[in-house]
Amino acid sequence: MTDRYAVIGNPIAHSKSPAIHAAFAAQTAQDLSYEALLAPLDGFAAAVAAFRASGGRGMNVTVPFKEEAFRMANRLTERARLAQAVNTLSFEDGEIKGENTDGIGLVRDLEHLGCELAGTRVLLLGAGGAVRGVVAPLLQAGVARLFIANRTVGRAEKLIEDFADQLMYGIPNTLNAGSWADATKDAPYDVVINATSASLSDEAPPLPSGLYAPGSLAYDMVYGRGLTAYLKQAREQGAARLADGLGMLVEQAAEAFALWRGVRPDTAAVRATLRAALPPLA
Ligand code: ATR
Repeated sequence: MTDRYAVIGNPIAHSKSPAIHAAFAAQTAQDLSYEALLAPLDGFAAAVAAFRASGGRGMNVTVPFKEEAFRMANRLTERARLAQAVNTLSFEDGEIKGENTDGIGLVRDLEHLGCELAGTRVLLLGAGGAVRGVVAPLLQAGVARLFIANRTVGRAEKLIEDFADQLMYGIPNTLNAGSWADATKDAPYDVVINATSASLSDEAPPLPSGLYAPGSLAYDMVYGRGLTAYLKQAREQGAARLADGLGMLVEQAAEAFALWRGVRPDTAAVRATLRAALPPLA
């Protein structure tokens, strides 16, 4: 029997996950189906239960349900626990297992873009769920400095304190938080990642100058919006290279696929197909 998977969110109509997983399944000759499920804002748990009861094997979880998925899982990976958010559920042995592949997806994409993260300085913009999901994988990749800057400074400070509590060995001296202006303290950065939702309203965080090291990469986690206000600003402020979050989307999907199916798809062809359908970054 064909194994069933789905992505669940609200909204969900424009999700690229069904196309990505269908391509992975074809490439690896896995017999599975993957659909998009719209859950009412107050109906996430019921929708998951119904999908599971009908034989579903796993789900990807997207906005705004990742925190609820975290609370629902009765077994969590270390990454999901640190992120306090779950984007991948597996229904196995009568349990709901929760994983978060967003951060490792970002790290893999940065590697594809030629960023050897070990020893580099990284600036993360934002302090919401998108940032929470990527902090631990970036630290594990061996960055020399990780500065988290946010419009609401207290939120960035709280985020690194939460990490310190969970890591149980205090805030590593690689990890700092503050305002946009404070970000100059650890500058210049080799990689700057915009994980604010400012790009959705075509705004850019008002960053000070002097943040971008020679040869640096500016990365906007959104995709499909061409040159965002943030990427435009980054180019003007001296970023040498620009990237959007399409690769992260494909890589987080590949991690989920590998977890479910035990086989790792090749992401290059899928990335290229999706890229060809999007507006250019330049
Ligand atoms: P997500 O789960 O996508 O991270 P979120 O938790 O709502 O969503 O967080 C949104 C992030 O974008 C926050 O860091 C927010 O800053 P505040 O903490 O100050 O609210 C940031 N953000 C949203 N709109 C922004 C804007 N116009 N300029 C700068 N930062 C913005």
